[in-house]
Amino acid sequence: MADIILGIESSCDDTSAAVIRDGWLLSNVIASQDVHKAYGGVVPELASRAHEQNIVPVVSEALSRAGVSASELTAIAFTRGPGLLGSLLVGTSFAKALGLALDIPIVMVNHLHGHILASFVKEPGVPVRQPQFPYLCLLVSGGNSQIVRVDAPLQFTILGQTIDDAVGEAFDKCSKMMGLGYPGGPVIDRLAKLGDATRFKFAKPHIPGLDYSFSGIKTSLLYFVRDEIAKDPDFLEKNKEDICASFQKTLIDILMDKLVKAAKQTGIREIAIGGGVSANSGLRARIQEEGRRRGWNTYLPAFKFTTDNAAMIAIAGYYSYLAGERASLDVAPVSRMADF
Ligand code: KG4
Repeated sequence: MADIILGIESSCDDTSAAVIRDGWLLSNVIASQDVHKAYGGVVPELASRAHEQNIVPVVSEALSRAGVSASELTAIAFTRGPGLLGSLLVGTSFAKALGLALDIPIVMVNHLHGHILASFVKEPGVPVRQPQFPYLCLLVSGGNSQIVRVDAPLQFTILGQTIDDAVGEAFDKCSKMMGLGYPGGPVIDRLAKLGDATRFKFAKPHIPGLDYSFSGIKTSLLYFVRDEIAKDPDFLEKNKEDICASFQKTLIDILMDKLVKAAKQTGIREIAIGGGVSANSGLRARIQEEGRRRGWNTYLPAFKFTTDNAAMIAIAGYYSYLAGERASLDVAPVSRMADF
């Protein structure tokens, strides 16, 4: 019999539900929350309320697009964390209630494992291309920047991670401070394509090993812009494309330096990326370019699987389900990775 998994994702500001059958994606529905745009960042209380409104229609739509009735589901996978507690509570409670009503198991998923396994979602009509184990995943999102060694679907080792801000945070905070909009990554990515990446230089951090730091470069950009604006109030407006291109290139250089080091240290040439920042066009081009130069096989997720989505939660939940993992009804969501 086929294993049909409903995935539910509600860790931040996207309510998403997806259905997979034996690893093949049947549907993936995402309701984004525009309400946060006016505030320049996600407002947790508004996010929880929007999840509450969205969750029933989003799950119904996912089942209907998949052509699957609730009674055919084998298990429900949900994001337990990390993320916003109030948001996670909506998805977690919904998964528990539906699991109880249908008398089927529920499986909890670490959001980051979802991003790491996003390459394993198989789509009808799309050629299957998945990393071989072991592979390295550069996981880059709004909350995390990590290099993870993946030895099996449920076997991960963090080789390096940020000691302060995540790279997505650097994109978002700098964009906000420059008045360019939120979320910052897509805005800076778009402007960077129009600019000269060699025009401005920003200091790179010197962190030992495979760890990252993005707080210094963020501050260095903000001081630089502030000082230049003091001399010429129109500096930012006149140079925003070059600033974005130079800033983005520095962030990519920082990410790539450690990824190359990790590949050399481990001898692993299967390289994947995941997380919201893996949508960045500069990073995607650079990984492919380094891959060609260094003999890596590179795996870039389709754009729709870079930001938060339930397809990746469903696939991670599918592997956990196959491994016999089940969540009990008293499981609580967790906001921090450390509490998992
Ligand atoms: O994975 P994600 O949706 O949320 C977390 O789980 O953190 O990632 C969101 C992050 C934001 O920081 C956003 O600015 C960034 O991904 N992002 C990008 C791009 N698209 C989204 N960063 C750089 N370039 C992009 N094109």
